[in-house]
Amino acid sequence: MSIKLGDTAPNFQAESSLGDINFYNYLGDSWGILFSHPADYTPVCTTELGYTSKLKSEFDQRGTKVIALSVDAVEDHQSWIKDINETQDTNVEFPIIADKDRKVSELYDFIHPNASATATVRSLLIIDPAKKVRLIITYPASTGRNFNEILRVLDSLQLVDAHTVATPVNWENGEDVIIPPSISTEDARKIFAKGVTEIKPYLRYTPQPNI
Ligand code: BEZ
Repeated sequence: MSIKLGDTAPNFQAESSLGDINFYNYLGDSWGILFSHPADYTPVCTTELGYTSKLKSEFDQRGTKVIALSVDAVEDHQSWIKDINETQDTNVEFPIIADKDRKVSELYDFIHPNASATATVRSLLIIDPAKKVRLIITYPASTGRNFNEILRVLDSLQLVDAHTVATPVNWENGEDVIIPPSISTEDARKIFAKGVTEIKPYLRYTPQPNI
């Protein structure tokens, strides 16, 4: 199944390092990050999962729950987590799905046969509290993802859900944001009390509204 932005993220039941999980029950009303990695006991994956674990307070601040996945067995996940904790100086608390029968991988299109017939690629989805898919990225096995970028996208999505704005290239939380073309400059001057800077009629900035 091919999942696209705006689709409802499908629910599933799966075995995980923390026991059986119903995806929707795990997410509750939170934002969610579901990410696949190629295999347990591999170096790039070890650094990715360790770093994600270290970002726990950042995800908590953004009301976001994290869940990982590979097609390895639950016993491997549990044993590998000890290695991750030891080598990355952390304590992995989020669940890792043991998708041995590839049920979830097929549901979410995490196996790309021309990349690998057996291992999952490095895909990551951000899912909002309405269970809509808001971001999909897929990286090759040899390239670790940038989880600071995932935090940045979460900040952008949560901002644009609360205010009618967009965020420009390389935007970081706290920087000026873009007024979308759907708002005229005249209306923008009424809506955005902090001011509007018009560079071109279609390129207008305002200070971030929620700080
Ligand atoms: C890794 O996680 O280190 C890795 C996994 C598959 C292929 C290459 C690297």
